[in-house]
Formats: sequence, structure tokens, C-alpha cells
Amino acid sequence: ALERTLSIIKPDATRRNLTGKVNTVFEEAGLRIVAQKRIQLTEKQAGAFYEVHKERPFFGELVSFMCSAPVVVQVLEGENAVAHHREVMGATNPAEAAEGTVRKLYAQSIGENSVHGSDSLENAKREISFFFAETEILP
Ligand code: CMP
Repeated sequence: ALERTLSIIKPDATRRNLTGKVNTVFEEAGLRIVAQKRIQLTEKQAGAFYEVHKERPFFGELVSFMCSAPVVVQVLEGENAVAHHREVMGATNPAEAAEGTVRKLYAQSIGENSVHGSDSLENAKREISFFFAETEILP
């Protein structure tokens, strides 16, 4: 089915001027960027976005990293977009990511791993509405 997923190009990637290169990987995989903006997250926003990880030992590090430089938040659309995007991103840990994936190409570590993607259709809906109004999404 045609789906939408929430993607974030993380600070390690925006800092290295890789936004276009990451977008090229997505577009060549058949995902359409139907909404996109570059923003500076606050600690409050990043903490709320990653609330499910609140009890994890890396939560503090994750929040401060996500606020360390601008991020690019985007909505990607395509057939089976949630799972397809996760395949294109590659494993969370770049050491385990498959050839040709964004994380294999660009990620620096498990924390500074260049991109985020929703992990289910239900979370995609929540994460998209966290950053975008329906009127900002233009397929
Ligand atoms: P993301 O898909 O954005 O969702 C949660 C993030 O937590 C994950 O990508 C990783 O970047 C980060 N993360 C997961 N495990 C660790 C870890 N062991 N140390 C630091 N960050 C982590």
C-alpha cells in the first residue's frame, strides 16, 4: 500500500553537508520527499520525540546529540514506505549495515548514525504529526 514515513537527517549528516547525498539515496530507491524542513530541535522537543527511549542509558546522549546542530525532518511517500525506508537506511549500527545503505555509506557510530526512520505505520503517523501539519505535505 502507499504509505508515508517520517525521516530525520541527523546532525552528524547536516554538519558534513550530506543532506543532498542522503536525499539522493532515498529518491533513487523510489521514495518521494513530499515534505521537508531544516530545523533546530530544542532539548524539550527532542526529549518528547524520543520519549519511548526515556529509560535507556543513552537517552541523555541521544537528546543532546539531536540538538547539537540542525536536522532535516521530512515525510517520505511510497509503496510500503515504512519498511522500504528502513531497508534503505540500513541497520542502526553502521558496522552491521548492508552495502549501499545510508548508514553504511555515511554513519559514524550507533549514536551518530545519520538518519532516523519511523519503525511502524502507527509510529509514522505520530511522528509525522509531531513535525508537520497536513497542509505542509504535498505529494
Ligand atoms: P533512531 O532510529 O533515531 O532511534 C533511537 C536512536 O537511539 C537510534 O536511532 C540510535 O541513534 C540511538 N541509539 C541506539 N542505541 C544506542 C547506543 N547504544 N548508544 C547511543 N545511541 C544509541
